[in-house]
Amino acid sequence: MIPFNRLGWIFKAFAPMIYPTYIRQSLCDFLQPLKKGAKVLDIGSGTGILCEFSARCREDLQLEALDPARGMLKYAPSYVKTHEAYAEALPFESTLFDAILLGETLHHLNDVEKAIQEIRRVLRPDGRLYIYDFDPTEWIGNIIRKGELFLGEPGNFFKPEEIKVVLEKYGFSVEIKQYGYRYTVSARAV
Ligand SMILES: C[S@@+](CC[C@H](N)C(=O)[O-])C[C@H]1O[C@@H](n2cnc3c(N)ncnc32)[C@H](O)[C@@H]1O
Repeated sequence: MIPFNRLGWIFKAFAPMIYPTYIRQSLCDFLQPLKKGAKVLDIGSGTGILCEFSARCREDLQLEALDPARGMLKYAPSYVKTHEAYAEALPFESTLFDAILLGETLHHLNDVEKAIQEIRRVLRPDGRLYIYDFDPTEWIGNIIRKGELFLGEPGNFFKPEEIKVVLEKYGFSVEIKQYGYRYTVSARAV
C-alpha cells in the first residue's frame, strides 16, 4: 500500500507541478455552469489540490474534501471543510452536493461500484461528477498501473469507455475527453 498518511507534505509540494494546465482548465470548464455557492466535494482529495484549483476558477463555491488519510487532509487550505472517511461509505445525508470531484483517485478505490452508488446518493438530482484518471491501455498509463499494483494498491484502472458503462449503469449521462494517457469524465446525474 502507498503510505498516503505520511506523504501529505510531498503531495502538497509537488502535486501542483504535475497537474497539466489543460486538466486544470477542464476542471474550470466543468465548474463553470454550477449555481452560485454550489456545494462541491473532492473525494480522495489528498491535500485538497482540486479544491485549490476550483477556488481559483470560482471563489463562491463551498468546498469540502474527503480522504481516509488524516496526514493528507491536514494540508488542506483553511477554507476547505475536511472529512476523514472512505468513498465507499460517505458520511453525508442524501442529495447534499451539487458536484463531486475525483482527481487521480478512482484507481485507488477498493470498491468502485460501491463508491459510485454512494456518489450518486449524495449528489443532488442533476448533480455533476468530474473524474480525472489514467487510461491503462496507453503505455504510460500501463506503467502507472503496474507500478501501483506492485506497491499493493487496488489498481482499479478503467478504460474511458469502461467507466462510461459503469457510470451509465448508475444513472449518469457521461462525456469523456482523452488527452493521451490522461482522461477526464464530466457526468451528470439524470
Ligand atoms: C494519488 S492520491 C490523489 C490525491 C489528490 N486528489 C491529488 O490529485 O493530488 C489518491 C488519494 O486517494 C485516497 N484514497 C485511497 N483510498 C480511498 C478510498 N477508498 N476512498 C477515498 N479516498 C481514498 C488516498 O488516501 C489518497 O489521498
